[in-house]
Amino acid sequence: MPAAIHTAGLTRTFRAQNRTVEAVRGIDLTVEQGEILGFLGPNGAGKTTTLRMLTTLLAPTSGTATVAGHDLIADPRGVRKRIGYVAQTGGVDPAVSVREELTTQARLYRLTKAQAARRTEELAHDLDLAGLLERPCRALSGGQRRRLDIAMALTHEPSVLFLDEPTTGLDPGSRADLWQLVRRLREQRGMTVFLTTHYLDEADALADRLVVVDEGRVAAQGTSAQLKKEYGGSVRASLQDAFIALTGREARRETERAPVAV
Ligand SMILES: Nc1ncnc2c1ncn2[C@@H]1O[C@H](COP(=O)(O)OP(=O)(O)OP(=O)(O)O)[C@@H](O)[C@H]1O
Ligand SMILES: [Mg+2]
Repeated sequence: MPAAIHTAGLTRTFRAQNRTVEAVRGIDLTVEQGEILGFLGPNGAGKTTTLRMLTTLLAPTSGTATVAGHDLIADPRGVRKRIGYVAQTGGVDPAVSVREELTTQARLYRLTKAQAARRTEELAHDLDLAGLLERPCRALSGGQRRRLDIAMALTHEPSVLFLDEPTTGLDPGSRADLWQLVRRLREQRGMTVFLTTHYLDEADALADRLVVVDEGRVAAQGTSAQLKKEYGGSVRASLQDAFIALTGREARRETERAPVAV
């Protein structure tokens, strides 16, 4: 079975005020089909930039990747058809209803009106939004809005789902619901899930494998148990211990990568 995601030397630099920011400095990784991958790293490590490249929103400066069997550079449309993406900052219109958001999204994917109406009902059922369809999006709680973001990303039945900090700001109950949802997507549809999080307990509970990035590079990868043993000193260490040993930072400390002069 080919990998769901494979990258080689994926790199992205930004020009900012006559300086170059090396946001992603050559990332090599493989994610198997049906795997839940936790992509971890301190603020500014390059996680969102990597996700934006893998979802075709941002062109790599160099390097290659295949996503869902399609080459990122040669066939971005092929990639887009097969992936769903929930951005770090969600993107719903506050004034329109949940039903309208879901239906518009389905129409964007060229479903007919009847198909779009049916898909809206299915997604609302699957994501526990059925009672909220007539509400304007501004009247949703944070957890409900996150479920809507995910419903929209699932409209076209993608095989790979990218989630950028899907549970930030959610209460423990809503986070647990989202974990259940991610597990269900994998179990029922064999979906590959690539998610970033700053909650190490979440990474521990949910991800099959973790990739830790720091300063635009892969610092370590493996199962949670492997990282705890190798970097935290023992399998009984916490993931937080391993994370700090790897990056020298707390998972949530605010840092901004200093631009390098060119
Ligand atoms: N458009 C841009 N122009 C200039 N610099 C950028 C741009 N986008 C990102 N960067 C820089 O690239 C680096 C990586 O940013 P990125 O958003 O990928 O980090 P992240 O790992 O997602 O962090 P966080 O955990 O805070 O979301 C940061 O130093 C950031 O300031
Ligand atoms: Mg980010």
